[in-house]
Amino acid sequence: MKKWKIGLLGAVAMSAIMLVPVFLSGAAPGAGAAGSAGADADAPPARSEPLPAADPDYIAFQVGNRYGVKEHARFPLGSNIKPFVDSSGRVQVPLQAAGEGIGLDVTWDEVNQIATLINGKTTATLTVGIPQMTVGEEIIDLPTAPVVQDGSTYIPARALENVGGWTLEFLSSDKGNYIIFKQDEQQSVTEEVAKLLGASTEQYLTNGMLFRSGSDQAIARGEHISFSGMTTFDDDNSIYFPLEECVSAMGGSVETEGDTVTIQLGQREALLDTAKNTARVDRQPTEKENFCFHELNDILYVSDDLLAALLGMNKTLLSEGVLAFTVAPLKGYPDQEEALAAMGAELGNQKPKVEVPEAEHYVALTFDDGPTGQSEGLTARLLNALNERGAHATFFMCGYRVKDFHSVLDRYLEEGHEMGNHTMDHKTLTKLSVSEIHEQVDGNSDLIESYAGEKPTVMRPTGGAYNDTVKAEMEKSELPIILWSLDTLDWQSKDAKSVENKIVNNVQDGDIILMHDLYESTYKGVLNAIDKLKDKGYAFVTVSELAAIKGVELEPGKVYTSFR
Ligand code: NI
Repeated sequence: MKKWKIGLLGAVAMSAIMLVPVFLSGAAPGAGAAGSAGADADAPPARSEPLPAADPDYIAFQVGNRYGVKEHARFPLGSNIKPFVDSSGRVQVPLQAAGEGIGLDVTWDEVNQIATLINGKTTATLTVGIPQMTVGEEIIDLPTAPVVQDGSTYIPARALENVGGWTLEFLSSDKGNYIIFKQDEQQSVTEEVAKLLGASTEQYLTNGMLFRSGSDQAIARGEHISFSGMTTFDDDNSIYFPLEECVSAMGGSVETEGDTVTIQLGQREALLDTAKNTARVDRQPTEKENFCFHELNDILYVSDDLLAALLGMNKTLLSEGVLAFTVAPLKGYPDQEEALAAMGAELGNQKPKVEVPEAEHYVALTFDDGPTGQSEGLTARLLNALNERGAHATFFMCGYRVKDFHSVLDRYLEEGHEMGNHTMDHKTLTKLSVSEIHEQVDGNSDLIESYAGEKPTVMRPTGGAYNDTVKAEMEKSELPIILWSLDTLDWQSKDAKSVENKIVNNVQDGDIILMHDLYESTYKGVLNAIDKLKDKGYAFVTVSELAAIKGVELEPGKVYTSFR
């Protein structure tokens, strides 16, 4: 039964407990320059007054931002053009926008990959891939070479100092990483640049939260988190969030005493009275704000507006139902808005709940080295028999066999089984180079995906052989390494009774059982074992289901032998 208690807060009292404006360990990205965080969240950042004409000009960029600043206003650099830090740690700026920005004539020779910059009588040339530039007769070494990326040419920011006569300032602060070319070294433009370009996307994320309506995944303080089933939901034009989970994800705490809910976040305190329908926060609601809450199954959910107020953060609704809560206002910074919207859109839907069969004990049956036979072959008959018994299993497949016997590939997931990767050619990974490991594993994953529509979610190395390299590479391939705790030795005995006895006599709750869908004897033995163990209260689940049932979150590159 769902128990609903709906509170719509008509009035919001101002708190007597006034709050220290900077919280979250003092990090308030952009807040200092971009207006205080408590200001109207929806107002775009005000363009600053043009500086007096006597002031020399400047041009500024931000790492990762598709906008720059010139003539005291933001301007777009071009589609997907943004300064970046290259692999040598040097800042690269877009040739055209930066060169022309500081008043140079810029030409680009596409064929020879040569950029020419002309400043009055001085001509400078730079060639892609060469960490040098010529200025007049002189050859000057550069800290890094110009590059072409996504069809656009970038040059080291330092190079422009040699030809433009401007002073270059790199500014790395809690407001963002800025690149500023100034005519007057003394001129301080940091505040205006920070206001116009905003904090970096990373900084918004590090101090904020990102949600997508309908998902139980979120990003809080830069970390992916899951509300494990407590999906945010839409109602009355608001999106509702589990209050306690959100506050603790931001490093705060929630205490409930009677009807009073106290939210503590850094130096900040806010109160919610669920009986009187009042909230005490540090600011007046704006007109749009919809302060309301639901109690659903004893969990307190608050509306997006109320959550923003209680946390003292700015709420921004982005496209595709993505909501950002940020310390500094986000609205009006198109690059950051778009980046966060894209990140939010990727937040997954609630994972389908594992249908856990009622049982006293759970074990995982695993079958290696298959598939075997065509649509009437051994693997197909095994799938039929498991289906009849309501048993799930994990199949660690070899690519070379998938190539021959892929007619069963669309059945695994459909029938509740799990797909595992057992290398392309049954090669021992500890004897391979890193690139060969990935050919064997990633190549097999791609092959399986081409038939089954999805990649395997777990892997088992051939012979169970692994070392630190295999672990590190499987972490990169995002696959947990699954070994076993009960070996049936079915390949040795090739005897149905032996397989059955090995299982029935040795099995323990949480075991991972090793078999091969290669032998008729395995097929007969495992089915007899299933029938006997079902009577003893056992259920047969996939490796991932077994982990979930035992409260273990499988991690890529980690080795699991059982969940006893
Ligand atoms: Ni094998």
